[in-house]
Amino acid sequence: MMISRLQAGVLLIIVAARFLPVTAQINLALHGTVAQETTYTLSGSDSSYDATVAIEGPANNNWEDGCSSTGYQAKTWWGLFLPRLAYITNVKAYYRKDEAHRMNDFRLYFANGSVYHKTELCFRDTGKQAQSNLNQSIDCNLSPTRNIYYFNRNTFVELCYIEINGCWKGFWGENCTVPCPHNCIDQHCHPANGSCIWGCDPSKCLQGCFVSTGICSGGCVLGQAGQYCNKYNLAYNQTANIFPLASIFQFLISDLVGPPMSYYVNENPQSKDG
Ligand SMILES: *[C@@H]1O[C@H](CO)[C@@H](O)[C@H](O)[C@H]1NC(C)=O
Ligand SMILES: *[C@@H]1O[C@H](CO)[C@@H](O)[C@H](O)[C@H]1NC(C)=O
Ligand SMILES: *[C@@H]1O[C@H](CO)[C@@H](O)[C@H](O)[C@H]1NC(C)=O
Ligand SMILES: *[C@@H]1O[C@H](CO)[C@@H](O)[C@H](O)[C@H]1NC(C)=O
Ligand SMILES: *[C@@H]1O[C@H](CO)[C@@H](O)[C@H](O)[C@H]1NC(C)=O
Repeated sequence: MMISRLQAGVLLIIVAARFLPVTAQINLALHGTVAQETTYTLSGSDSSYDATVAIEGPANNNWEDGCSSTGYQAKTWWGLFLPRLAYITNVKAYYRKDEAHRMNDFRLYFANGSVYHKTELCFRDTGKQAQSNLNQSIDCNLSPTRNIYYFNRNTFVELCYIEINGCWKGFWGENCTVPCPHNCIDQHCHPANGSCIWGCDPSKCLQGCFVSTGICSGGCVLGQAGQYCNKYNLAYNQTANIFPLASIFQFLISDLVGPPMSYYVNENPQSKDG
């Protein structure tokens, strides 16, 4: 029991580390294509106000340094189109300081297709505060999406710089390099902390799984091993059901991940074992 209790402590640290949220993620705007409904043109000028100017920087509020701009429209949008589903967690945008009021009342939408069809609203500038918030950081916690849009009416959408941060579906972490835990349903996990979004799939677990971590709560079905029960238990393969090694292994695993974490937290090993 001493050994398993020590290992439980180690496991607890691993489990806790999994949920330390990370902030950065990757700038998805550099991994997709961008477009806008129409593009402003100024006759006699060489300047470009294309949608791409917004992702190129510099990150400031100066129209002279380059900002994307749509034409003046009854409805207008700037959009990022990704090659696959991503969880977008944060948008950082820099508006032009000389005409900041034009961004007032904008909406930020997620959609897999057009901005006019089946959208999810991440943010609306209801207080018309964009003009006093030149460098805006907006957090979103919505469905995964292929596209994201800045949308407005009876004005322009002008972005001097924009960063759209998140991870591709199936990955999380500071640089989106950590795969979602095994057993997260359809590999949906939060980009910032790796916790399963749609819960866990208990099919390889004996008694079920922790919805956030996907870890099996009471050991594995026969023949499987590991905290997610996604590994083959070679001991089981080699010894069938006779030699007790397989069952010891199963016991260790279920002892490690079985009880809820508060069990370990409340326990003081030194007073019992020392
Ligand atoms: C926005 O960022 C730019 C560039 O870093 C900076 O010069 C400016 O002061 C910032 N504006 C506000 C309102 O914080
Ligand atoms: C995009 O499609 C995925 C997969 O079908 C779905 O889970 C998600 O909710 C959709 N996202 C939006 C913003 O509609
Ligand atoms: C993420 O990428 C940065 C830049 O390449 C690197 O310095 C950092 O160590 C990476 N972080 C992780 C957790 O891999
Ligand atoms: C992970 O992050 C999401 C989104 O912020 C949050 O809803 C969830 O509770 C977090 N999970 C854990 C276990 O902290
Ligand atoms: C171990 O047993 C499992 C379940 O019976 C089987 O699917 C797997 O192929 C076996 N692996 C080896 C290496 O024999």
